[in-house]
Amino acid sequence: MAMIALKCPDIQVAVVDLNQQRIDAWNSECLPIYEPGLYEVVKACRGRNLIFSTDCRRHVAEADIIFVSVNTPTKMTGVGAGKAADLAYWEGAARMIASVSTTSKIIVEKSTVPVKTAEAIGKVLRRNCADPDVHFEILSNPEFLAEGTAVKDLEAPDRVLIGGRDTQEGRAAVEALSAVYEQWVPRERVLRANLWSAELSKLTANAMLAQRISSINSISALCEATGADVQQVAHALGTDSRIGSKFLNASVGFGGSCFQKDILNLVYICESVGLERVAQYWHSVIQINDYQKNRFVERVISGMFNTVSGKKIAILGFAFKKDTGDTRETPAIDVCHGLIADDACLCIYDPQVSKDQIYRDLAAPKFQWDLPMLPNGAQVPFTDSQIEKSVSISSDPYQASAGAHALCVITEWDEFADLDYERIYASMSKPAFIFDGRNVLDHGRLQSIGFITYGLGKPI
Ligand code: UGA
Repeated sequence: MAMIALKCPDIQVAVVDLNQQRIDAWNSECLPIYEPGLYEVVKACRGRNLIFSTDCRRHVAEADIIFVSVNTPTKMTGVGAGKAADLAYWEGAARMIASVSTTSKIIVEKSTVPVKTAEAIGKVLRRNCADPDVHFEILSNPEFLAEGTAVKDLEAPDRVLIGGRDTQEGRAAVEALSAVYEQWVPRERVLRANLWSAELSKLTANAMLAQRISSINSISALCEATGADVQQVAHALGTDSRIGSKFLNASVGFGGSCFQKDILNLVYICESVGLERVAQYWHSVIQINDYQKNRFVERVISGMFNTVSGKKIAILGFAFKKDTGDTRETPAIDVCHGLIADDACLCIYDPQVSKDQIYRDLAAPKFQWDLPMLPNGAQVPFTDSQIEKSVSISSDPYQASAGAHALCVITEWDEFADLDYERIYASMSKPAFIFDGRNVLDHGRLQSIGFITYGLGKPI
């Protein structure tokens, strides 16, 4: 919304939320999320044509176009628990919109939703609006930005996708929304589709991105078993223009609020329409991701002579990727749980994630939809006191590493490549191990310092 306000000075943008604390943060110098370049964009238009407010009903009533960007988490209980998207927030938003609307509006699905949500929401809107002359036209306009590069992605998107009904009103609404984006996005990049295609494209785009990561991660296991190097393999694959080089970085596992949630949602939709084999296919993308996280933990434990009990291990990075403070579904949570279950003493450093957040994440119960066990057979969750006993947090990577037997790189923060590893080596217990879950370090150099290194998908 900030980017729309920046690029379209003639449009008044109101961002509304019921949460006063969150809105206060958006109105402050310290935004509630860390995203490179976002503060500058917000600052350029806040108070001009961009406002943040808790007065949801007033701003919704006044709006011509409403973007609904509420949470659609995976359902934790009831029918479809662990897989289906929970649309409770969406339905609540639709009821509120219907109850305050006295003029016709375009409703834009921005949240990632299951296919055919527009149909269900349309019913809620129509049946809850007192004025029969008010018309709601629903569009699907999924968001493809990635965290950490959001501003860049929004400024020059590969494409903008708008799904709408093939009726006169539907086409007019698609053109109205397209006109907003065309103020900075070339027209040929604004793709039009029917509603269901747009909804399904979003789920499939994320599923295919995640599938690439699981594919290369599965090959990383084979590389370790055969002496191949996954980075060389990925490079060779990526030069085939049909495959392309992006999203082929082997990792400790993908995280983030979207990939797993959207695939589970896709799996649920396939199962609902009786496509069991298709559901299994996509399910395996998540299974490989869990396998990869478990494999990493096993590698750490077996590398350190089959025991990490009582040993200090420094965890470098907790966010699910670099340049964000977001920890949702971060592989760091599973890796830390696996190591805590083997009695390790962890010291965690992340440049953007707060101590409270890390403790909250490690203590939070996790929905066990599959693979309920950690590699060492332990069950999560752990109690708060277990976590506090086993985990400390440091605001300095050197302090986190001092006295440690091993370092585990979980997030690919740029600064990790530039640390003074001579200094770190001198401060560690020997033998000093590095388990590089992102392949971002110079292993040759580290070995010459004296480290025993492990890279994902690297000859052992
Ligand atoms: C993802 C998609 O990339 C966006 O297009 C989409 O809009 C977004 O989800 C969403 O649905 O909101 P995001 O989760 O922010 O974006 O971040 P990604 O860059 O996709 O990374 C996801 C995870 O995959 C991270 O844990 C990352 O470290 C991992 N990853 C990524 C790899 O392990 N290897 C790679 O080669 C690339």
